[in-house]
Amino acid sequence: MQKTALIRIDDKELSLPVMVGTEGEKAVDARKLRADTGYIFYDQGYGNTGSCESAITYLDGDNGILRHRGYPIEQLAAHSEYVETAYLVIYGELPTAEQRHAFGQLLRQHAPVETQMLKLVEAFPQDAPPMVMLGALVGSLAAFYPELATNNFEKDLKQFDLAAAIAISKIRTLGALIYRHKQGLPFTHPKDISFCDNFLHLMFSEPYQDYVAIPEVAQALNLILLMHADHEQNCSTSTTRMVGSSGANLFTSLSAAIGALSGPLHGGANVAVMQMLQSIHDEHDDGSRFIEAAKGGSKSNRLMGFGHAVYRNFDPRAKVIGQACQVVLNKLGKSDPLLDIAQHLEQAALKDDYFVSRKLYPNVDFYSGIILRALGIPTNMFTVMFAIGRSPGWIANWREVASNAKGRIYRPRQIYVGPVQRDYVPMAKRG
Ligand code: SDX
Repeated sequence: MQKTALIRIDDKELSLPVMVGTEGEKAVDARKLRADTGYIFYDQGYGNTGSCESAITYLDGDNGILRHRGYPIEQLAAHSEYVETAYLVIYGELPTAEQRHAFGQLLRQHAPVETQMLKLVEAFPQDAPPMVMLGALVGSLAAFYPELATNNFEKDLKQFDLAAAIAISKIRTLGALIYRHKQGLPFTHPKDISFCDNFLHLMFSEPYQDYVAIPEVAQALNLILLMHADHEQNCSTSTTRMVGSSGANLFTSLSAAIGALSGPLHGGANVAVMQMLQSIHDEHDDGSRFIEAAKGGSKSNRLMGFGHAVYRNFDPRAKVIGQACQVVLNKLGKSDPLLDIAQHLEQAALKDDYFVSRKLYPNVDFYSGIILRALGIPTNMFTVMFAIGRSPGWIANWREVASNAKGRIYRPRQIYVGPVQRDYVPMAKRG
């Protein structure tokens, strides 16, 4: 028996079907609302609105649950690695040994960046923001691979596997080359080694000496990238779907996603967390100044790395990364005073009613910077690392949009609150 929701408006009754997802999530299917009643639902920020059906990632914000294609993030963190999880997120199943090898080989094959694109990297000012550079360079992939970016879903989907591998591999390589450019270092070139080892080589090798990552470093980078692989309809993923819904190719859609991720309330938060922790350290503060300022309610003083649009409980990724911090530091024989500050801040906030009453807990960004810093990655590259990790999620969502034969262009409505009709005023009669 189809469950329905009854809406009574202006002495009319409208019965709307109820949709139920495989995890029991419920939605009122409002697709006929405007045609039948002239009304729309208003939901600023879409926090109560489902834009799509998706089979990639499931979040339960109240219970702190995150699963990719049904696999809990805790199990993937414990047993999987980034490239395998990227395959799972994109293709829906854990790869066989043969599929994993073939995928890894495709990523290695497309690790190098064209000479012409290297010239694009060099064209940027050395002080250009890394995410501005990454967005522009990823968008330019559509110019370098026009045969994979025709803006025709049928054609582009035929080449999807190649386009996806190029996107994941090049975003990684470009991230490292952006760092080299900003540091004034000569470009490095990929080797026939694993995804994470290649990134670390590209970042840190010198002309006179190759950087060979110790296993613990590569393992820590794998964990950080894996933990960022996908996260339901977050701002940058929804942006990917929005742009893709117009028929735009994968690379162009990824460039838009990178733009969305660069915002301080989204992917830029990991940089802001480290800046906050460093300020607390430099001021020999105990964090109380930041906590009190955060309670003022202004967006610019928020406790960065805390709170989440969905989680009203611990972000499960924050738990895993938080536990990994000390392990990674111990393995590297390092210590970081910012970790102690972060742990103290977390304890203090979780005892403060302002945060407890609003169900504000640490999110993925609160601890990730500690590990990235331990790997020698500079703070201004943290959001680029987030983009490298999140590329499989964006790609999987673009593919869902492109593959949906019944899909429509994303075109939300609004409530107009501007001036009502008025007549044109000739210049001579104005002001
Ligand atoms: C990511 O969506 C995803 O899935 C994103 C992400 C992913 O993997 O893609 O998880 C990655 O973006 C994580 C979030 C990173 N951003 C930050 O850490 C920035 C700090 N956090 C916040 O700005 C905020 O928590 C958001 C943006 C994450 C969520 O904002 P919401 O859902 O719009 O929350 P809200 O504004 O409705 O807040 C509710 C209340 C408000 O107070 P009142 O008006 O009720 O008095 O909580 C307050 C907010 O002022 N609040 C905070 C706070 N976050 C929310 N107060 C102080 N510090 C904070 N961090």
